[in-house]
Amino acid sequence: MSLFRNWMSGNDVVGLDLGSATLKAVQLTSNGNTFRLEKIGYLALPEGTVACGDIIDALTLEAAIRELFEKEKFRAKSVAFAVQGDQVFSKKISLSAISYEELEAQLPMIAEQYLPHPPDDLNLDYHALSTENSTAQSVDFMLLGVKKKFLKTFISAIQGADLKPAFVDTVPSAISNLTEYIQLPPEPTAVVHVGAAFTQVIIFVNNLYQFHHTFDFGGHQITETLREKLHLSFTEAETLKMSTYKEKNLPENTKEIIEVACQSFFENLGQAFNLYLTAFPQAHIEKILLSGGTAKIPPLLEWTAQHFGCEADILNPFTGLDISEKEFNPLYLEDLAPIFSVACGLATRSKNT
Ligand SMILES: Nc1ncnc2c1ncn2[C@@H]1O[C@H](COP(=O)(O)OP(=O)(O)OP(=O)(O)O)[C@@H](O)[C@H]1O
Ligand SMILES: [Mg+2]
Repeated sequence: MSLFRNWMSGNDVVGLDLGSATLKAVQLTSNGNTFRLEKIGYLALPEGTVACGDIIDALTLEAAIRELFEKEKFRAKSVAFAVQGDQVFSKKISLSAISYEELEAQLPMIAEQYLPHPPDDLNLDYHALSTENSTAQSVDFMLLGVKKKFLKTFISAIQGADLKPAFVDTVPSAISNLTEYIQLPPEPTAVVHVGAAFTQVIIFVNNLYQFHHTFDFGGHQITETLREKLHLSFTEAETLKMSTYKEKNLPENTKEIIEVACQSFFENLGQAFNLYLTAFPQAHIEKILLSGGTAKIPPLLEWTAQHFGCEADILNPFTGLDISEKEFNPLYLEDLAPIFSVACGLATRSKNT
């Protein structure tokens, strides 16, 4: 077993968000309570580099990381990255009468009890949680088990690009980090991060993480449906999806196909909310904040608000950052905002230096 959070090397870190469609990187610097945006960059990953959260083509990933850092001239050489899908198991646990030293020593035993995967196959770690329930007598923490094979492959790709691993988060915990500089409403607020393969639902109360759930839905599913129904290649279907709400001459039924493909999003999201309400029966979701590349499908916001009968908005992870308008065009940032939530959350790890 190795505790990978001990990597932190004292340098600034770049938040590196690896998805099935895109690789995103953000560097923030912290001065006390504020964060300043230093750099952002992203590039599309060749199809087949990453699938379902796993790295399929490590050499292509290594080349992409190198290309992104060289293209955008990121100064920091340490990276914080996130894990998702079948590569990670996590569980929020509250234990009484235990010190952090004892917790560390007992992690394999705790993992055996709480995680649905043999601990020998996992690198184990935990993140202390500051929740409303934490007291001097009890420790609230997120137990984390990442598949050793995945971690080894990702670290080799990072090192192969002449960078150093500094910190590992899960995608939900990376998004939770955004509350370091974004103040969410006190009422239950769901951040719904819809990428290419996964949707992550993270619920906050009083700006504190309370619940998360992940399901398989993302932009790839919509593209696949368009591809199948309109007999297109994946690339043609992806291009059509991106231009649907800008172009007039569309193949028949394009908008209807997208709307039907989104039904499984609403079903799964409804189930996630039901799980939350089972765990917290008094709660009521007051607001939904959409994030991730798929949040850029224009009508998704309105459909979501209508479906769940609550307020919905786009989460902009650049809000609350100190940003030079000379360096970053505000319209450019607003357009890219949804895809950078996880990378921004990871980049807040810089302040631990
Ligand atoms: N303007 C747009 N209109 C519609 N869909 C878009 C737009 N821009 C990006 N997308 C979709 O967003 C998805 C990529 O988003 P994102 O970068 O958040 O995913 P990812 O992090 O690579 O995936 P995951 O984390 O789920 O593996 C793709 O499916 C892409 O087609
Ligand atoms: Mg993603």
